[in-house]
Amino acid sequence: MDWGLKNRLSRVIKSDGKTVMLAVDHGYFLGPTSGLEDAGRTIGPLLPHADALMPARGILRTSVDASTDTPIVLRVSGGNSVLDEDLSFEGITVSMEDAVRMNVAAVALSIYVGSPNQKETLLNLAKLVDEGQRYGIPVLAVTAVGKSMGRDARYLSLACRIAAELGAHFVKTYYCDGFEKVVRTCPVPIVMAGGKKLPEAEALELTYNAIKRGAAGVDMGRNIFQAESPVAMIQAVKAVVHDKSSPKQAFHLYQSLKAAEKSPKRPRLKGVTASRAELNRH
Ligand code: R5P
Repeated sequence: MDWGLKNRLSRVIKSDGKTVMLAVDHGYFLGPTSGLEDAGRTIGPLLPHADALMPARGILRTSVDASTDTPIVLRVSGGNSVLDEDLSFEGITVSMEDAVRMNVAAVALSIYVGSPNQKETLLNLAKLVDEGQRYGIPVLAVTAVGKSMGRDARYLSLACRIAAELGAHFVKTYYCDGFEKVVRTCPVPIVMAGGKKLPEAEALELTYNAIKRGAAGVDMGRNIFQAESPVAMIQAVKAVVHDKSSPKQAFHLYQSLKAAEKSPKRPRLKGVTASRAELNRH
């Protein structure tokens, strides 16, 4: 792996080998997803807590502060919409030149193994890997699951392994029974996809199980930004991923951070402000 590519990947997957990526790319085929209608407003407070942010190019340019230190994993595939019967007809939507211009840490595209468009999406992955190698940009393959495709260890191992064989530098896939087999047979790091919104305690349990079975972290969207307190939730997820917290400890952390957010701020009576307050009182 070239130095630049290694350096970019190390910005996403931290020195403990783990990452909490915040997925906000939903709109590329779902339009205004619940919680992301005003994407900038949702992303702003979460951005400093995320190890990496995964948006599509339009949201990055319109709704993410360009002075951020948070590395960007840019969604570069699309062309489909939720109105399609078959979601697999995706192509590459962003040139590597534009990805470089946006100073991204990695690019991401979906592959649809076993779908009518399997070949096209796998060839797109191979093409992106060639370009990524040329420019030093790692590629994340997202193993998309179509309406008719399975979500079991057999299918996900197949999809993840194919992605790695074609050169993906890391892979995003779903949690399943036998997840350890999916991890064991894939020679590159796997980040777990969040999936549909669950109660917070269950999402933390899911995260814990994935980490315990070898995931390099999560790339989670709805379970964070649709939580009752998104900022508390991302910190609880980080506690599981980076600090080995149990689901119970992490849920406790979530609840206390959420409660602290809601409790009215006590007046600050320190330093200059304190003496002015004191003066005003007398
Ligand atoms: C899936 O292919 C896309 O990347 C999604 O838009 C996103 O990653 C989903 O995240 P979550 O399922 O955690 O909301």
